[in-house]
Amino acid sequence: MLFCCQGSEARPSFSLMAVPGLASVLPEHLAAHLDLGAGTVGAHPGTERFLSDLRGVFHDEVAYGEALARGNPLVYRVVGVAPAEGDGQLHYGLGTLQAGKIGQEYFLTKGHLHAWRPAAEVYVGLRGDGRMILEEEATGRTRLVPLGAGDVVYVPGHTAHRTANVGSEPLVYLGIYPAAAGHDYAAIAERNFRCCLVEREGQPVLVERARLVRGAGGRP
Ligand code: F6R
Ligand code: MN
Repeated sequence: MLFCCQGSEARPSFSLMAVPGLASVLPEHLAAHLDLGAGTVGAHPGTERFLSDLRGVFHDEVAYGEALARGNPLVYRVVGVAPAEGDGQLHYGLGTLQAGKIGQEYFLTKGHLHAWRPAAEVYVGLRGDGRMILEEEATGRTRLVPLGAGDVVYVPGHTAHRTANVGSEPLVYLGIYPAAAGHDYAAIAERNFRCCLVEREGQPVLVERARLVRGAGGRP
């Protein structure tokens, strides 16, 4: 086995990622602590999405413009961890999605397909009250599933997915996916999801985007 040295510490080199077993992962990637309140995974850096990053995501463009004029809040943060690359390896990410609405539509993530379409993903809800919108790419068939503390969601391959916070506290969840999955945001940016998750009489309801009137508070 080859090692590269940093100070007095001997560490497996990333050039050895094809080596199977423990040597394929840096020791500090074998375990990490999730801080659900802070939304952190050890010291791994995160990506933040503010309201201004989500132009075109929400149905009600008037409500979006008004909300943006009032401020530019953080909507969600994702800390992605890539312990190893290559066939069979996994990556994971901790998501923290704030509570809020634009018009009648709940705060949600951009959503994506995996660039490697067959790649599935498992989500584990850790805190808060959320939903996942799953949309089969080929048919647009849509399913709404719960993602709250203790819920597990299986996202099959070839399925666009996004999370929504339907509660009043931050929604915190973990997503675990193949290292080779990759993220394709372009397809979603172009056509968005077929359905929107809006509040109706205090309850989250999935409504076809085409049935909602633009700029009318998300009302049909
Ligand atoms: C990874 C995954 C999640 C999301 C996270 C943020 O494949 O599905 O970790 O990355 O929920 O959502 P997006 O990536 O759509 O901004
Ligand atoms: Mn994903």
